[in-house]
Amino acid sequence: MTRSVTVRVPAKVNVQLAVGGLRPDGFHDLANVFLAVGLYDEVTATPADELRITCAGPGAAEVPLDATNLAARAATALARRHGRTPAVHLHIAKDIPVAGGMAGGSADAAGALVACDALWGTGASREELLEICAELGSDVPFSLVGEAALGRGRGELLEPLPVGGTFHWVFAVADGGLSTPAVYAECDRLREAAGTGATTADVPDPEPSPALLSALRSGDATALAAALSNDLQPAALSLRPSLAATLEAGTRAGALAALVSGSGPTTAFLVADAEQADRVAAALRASGTCRTVRTTTSPAPGARVCEPATAH
Ligand code: C5P
Repeated sequence: MTRSVTVRVPAKVNVQLAVGGLRPDGFHDLANVFLAVGLYDEVTATPADELRITCAGPGAAEVPLDATNLAARAATALARRHGRTPAVHLHIAKDIPVAGGMAGGSADAAGALVACDALWGTGASREELLEICAELGSDVPFSLVGEAALGRGRGELLEPLPVGGTFHWVFAVADGGLSTPAVYAECDRLREAAGTGATTADVPDPEPSPALLSALRSGDATALAAALSNDLQPAALSLRPSLAATLEAGTRAGALAALVSGSGPTTAFLVADAEQADRVAAALRASGTCRTVRTTTSPAPGARVCEPATAH
């Protein structure tokens, strides 16, 4: 009898990404307003002789299958804390764009953690899971909790946020990924070049926008569109100038707002409703400025076991 556990984990878009100065530890303090969106990876954990990762879906070829994979690191971290070996096969069914600024790797880490916890009967508390998530990466705790949250610190200190309605999104997936550290480094370089300095001594503390939080709370898409911001966008555009044409194509097609998702290169378009989503998606496809286009809504739940452990 082989038991297996499958966990579904959402992608995210940052509706506000306010980036503070470079800290001595190499990270940046953030006011990071995360919103989970309805694109999901699924991580299935099955007992095996040793830790093994497989991956299928768009972009799967670019996902590392060795011990550096965040899902592998998550399983190893949980096993180590509970005095067991991570003898598990983790299969990742990928639907979140790889290296796209939508926290796909973080989703897989959170998914692996929840799946292994259920498979092994570890019974880790929410606090312990969140602690392991924070060790694995700045965006991993949010992948666990989903919905909407304000991330402080390097993004790992979460405060849930109320969302008063459904928001409609179109995402344009670019060819190839962008490295998150490279985009943060470019943000620092641009700040230095502008003469403002890039350290915590030079850059004001990042703060969440009251207008943005209020738009989320009321579910008002027009108000949210007016308040969206991403301090990493100039850096992503500097490294990938072609993204300007994608942003322009979606804006021309009537999107309420357009921005780079996190560190990019995926671009996000907030739209009024499902019909406008279809129109903007069609225009983006026709524009030839991106690889694929996806439409979805937010918020979305965090990492959840989507099939009870089954006997085959
Ligand atoms: O935490 P995570 O592994 O996702 O971070 C990847 C890289 O992104 C870090 O090594 C750092 O260069 C950059 N980063 C940052 N400030 C943050 C989060 C990430 O500079 N708050």
